[in-house]
Amino acid sequence: MLYNSVTEEILEKIRHTAGTANVFVDDESLEKYAQDETEDLKYRPEVVVKAETPEVIAALLKLCNLYNIPLTPRGGGTGLSGGALPIHGGILLSMERFKNIINIDTANLQAVVEPGVITEEFINAVAEHGLLYPVDPSSKGSCFIGGNVAHCSGGPRVVKYGTIREYILNLEVVLPSGEIIWTGANTLKYASGYNLTQLMIGSEGTLGIVTKIVTKLIPKHQQSVLMLAEFSGNETACAAVSAIFRAGVTPSALEFMERKGVEWVIRYDDIRFDVNPGVEAYLLIELDGDNMDNIFQDCDRVNEVLEAFGCSNVLFADTAMQKEELWRMRRTMAESVKSNSVYKEEDTVVPRAALPELIKGIKETGSRYGFDSICYGHAGDGNLHVNIIKAGMSDSDWKEKLKDGIAEIFKLTTALGGTISGEHGIGLVQKEYMPIKYSEVHLGIMRAIKSVFDPNHILNPGKIF
Ligand code: LAC
Ligand code: ZN
Repeated sequence: MLYNSVTEEILEKIRHTAGTANVFVDDESLEKYAQDETEDLKYRPEVVVKAETPEVIAALLKLCNLYNIPLTPRGGGTGLSGGALPIHGGILLSMERFKNIINIDTANLQAVVEPGVITEEFINAVAEHGLLYPVDPSSKGSCFIGGNVAHCSGGPRVVKYGTIREYILNLEVVLPSGEIIWTGANTLKYASGYNLTQLMIGSEGTLGIVTKIVTKLIPKHQQSVLMLAEFSGNETACAAVSAIFRAGVTPSALEFMERKGVEWVIRYDDIRFDVNPGVEAYLLIELDGDNMDNIFQDCDRVNEVLEAFGCSNVLFADTAMQKEELWRMRRTMAESVKSNSVYKEEDTVVPRAALPELIKGIKETGSRYGFDSICYGHAGDGNLHVNIIKAGMSDSDWKEKLKDGIAEIFKLTTALGGTISGEHGIGLVQKEYMPIKYSEVHLGIMRAIKSVFDPNHILNPGKIF
């Protein structure tokens, strides 16, 4: 697809549309918005626009259609699949000025929020009303709620509370044509034709730009317990995961971490934690609720399962500080792996009882191709983040052969009934693997949907497929 460059004449029109003070072409801005958290990829936009209203975005999109200029929307820039990278140049639209929590409706347990609100700020704001918005990706301190919607982002609490799909009721969206619509209704039920709200969630900014979000909220639990279970092997730790649910317990988080990941975090983030000899893997298990007796009963059941699967030791976090420290260890794992090594991150997901087979296959593939891997993630969801470490691989093998190794991992993931991303999205870096999961017919339907919304392909082109 060929696009036009942003000429001086078009730049003037952009300034006229968005306001000169909101349009940036200085080197520093172009450089900053050339990257997100995806590996070390860098694509400079031609101009950065910080729009302030849906109407300005609508007018910008009309300009883009008229002049054949691509526009890439961006939230907090924490994406891991390159969804916000302006790979064809053009306009980078930052949503950082959409910062208002418009309304917290305690009567209906709903909120209306703008997409540039930092997820953790929203979580804290509703918590002041005793309410919970449980979608808390590891990057919650800097990601935007709009980016979470765009990428169908997850996080540790999905296992009990469900994905972001269950918390988004309605969206105001600027369509690529420059029209503005609401996708659904502010209701808990919706059987009124195709569900465009759900179509927008996870569409990675390729179908429209979300400008208002209506979320569902739930009452916040009062109590929680956090424990860390030690295992001498990855596969036994993974096998214990599905058994916990079969024993009738649904933890509010059930995370898996490999020993090496923990060791790297300790060094990277200065966390006080001793890795016991012989420990190869950990399960971080959180149980929440309002009644401590019930929580302890569940703890007992979990402990029985852990013991049956050869868990060697269980640590309980007694204080809020210890809980915070364990969560910090888990949440900074992605950053610490990135700072330690040349790596690629994959986001596999399978039905949870297939986890042992998945991790075994990942390690075997690594041995065949010569890469190391650090696996961690939301085991309760069957969602394993696979950080592929270059280790002894030569530069040319890393460039040429690694793709085949990754394809093998995705083939296994698919064969086990899973898919190629659970929560990080396809964006730029996974799109070449889409045919492993989807037939040409299936991909054709996705492409056709894209064309209905965006016939000129001006909105976030080159992503997903
Ligand atoms: C996490 C991010 C990488 O789980 O998804 O930490
Ligand atoms: Zn994750």
